[in-house]
Amino acid sequence: MAVGNHSAGDDLQSFLRALPKAELHLHLEGSVEPETVLELNPSLSLDAIRTNLHYTGFAGFLRAYVWLTQQLDSPQAYALATRRMLERLIPQNITYVEVTLSVGVVLWKKQNVEQIFEAIRRETLLFPQIEVAWIFDAIRQFGVEAASRVFEIAKDLRSGGVVGIGIGGDEERGPAAWFGPLYKKARDSGLRLHCHAGEVSGPESIWQALNVGAERIGHGIRAIDDPELLNELVRRDIPLEICPSSNVSTGAVSRLTEHPLRRIWDAGVPVVLGTDDPALFFTDLIHEYMLAGEIFGFSRDELKVLAANSLRYRFQARD
Ligand code: ADE
Ligand code: ZN
Repeated sequence: MAVGNHSAGDDLQSFLRALPKAELHLHLEGSVEPETVLELNPSLSLDAIRTNLHYTGFAGFLRAYVWLTQQLDSPQAYALATRRMLERLIPQNITYVEVTLSVGVVLWKKQNVEQIFEAIRRETLLFPQIEVAWIFDAIRQFGVEAASRVFEIAKDLRSGGVVGIGIGGDEERGPAAWFGPLYKKARDSGLRLHCHAGEVSGPESIWQALNVGAERIGHGIRAIDDPELLNELVRRDIPLEICPSSNVSTGAVSRLTEHPLRRIWDAGVPVVLGTDDPALFFTDLIHEYMLAGEIFGFSRDELKVLAANSLRYRFQARD
């Protein structure tokens, strides 16, 4: 209830801001706001940029994501994207972030990953308030050979803060099972294993992610259709990184009130909230926690557990 100019929503915002939190599901490329694209390319207009970023459906979303990624045409552009991303995370009291970099797309653009990563890393050193680690993502529909290059580069850049590998893109056109031997090799080289799964495809896709050794699942919301899978996630203590605004924007879920977040939580599955691609979904991490509180009925104690989970399930060991 509003008291004077001060509402319960303001109170919840302050409460959430004060919680130390990690962001574990965030794509650098999907964090590039239209204003940053304009900084990178002043010959574009904000209207034209927004038109390119407008989409419907999951396939349309992936095209918008690729367009955004194409705007990052140099190491300096990636560095600016990193700077603007960190500037948005710090005021939310996010103390640790694992950023996913679509290295599969960097290679597809024929850019030099090492130079880009060096520029990015230099930028992160300007922000000692936040600890930054990286997950190198392959694009599943580009196939096994392309993913193998991504994971090899990840291994070589471990000392620069790459903590894990994953696969993103279109799960219908690149089943996790293809990547089993590569995942094993990555794990043997000390990398942690991530996998987008069960975002638009059914539980079978999540089972495959588990079978190749994924330690955290990006989205995983279709687990709700398979009680045995829910039990397995609980038993193995595998968290789902749930990004409600993303799922509505991409059409993975028809509307927020249909989202299975609460039911997955009630089944006892570990949950971490994330934003995925905040510039494409008009969100930030505090907003996702606000939705949990206001739409999904998470109590303050439950919100505290969500925030604690985000730190608990990080890939990089704490100092
Ligand atoms: N890459 C960036 N965002 C993604 C998503 N939501 N699903 C699959 N791949 C992605
Ligand atoms: Zn994602």
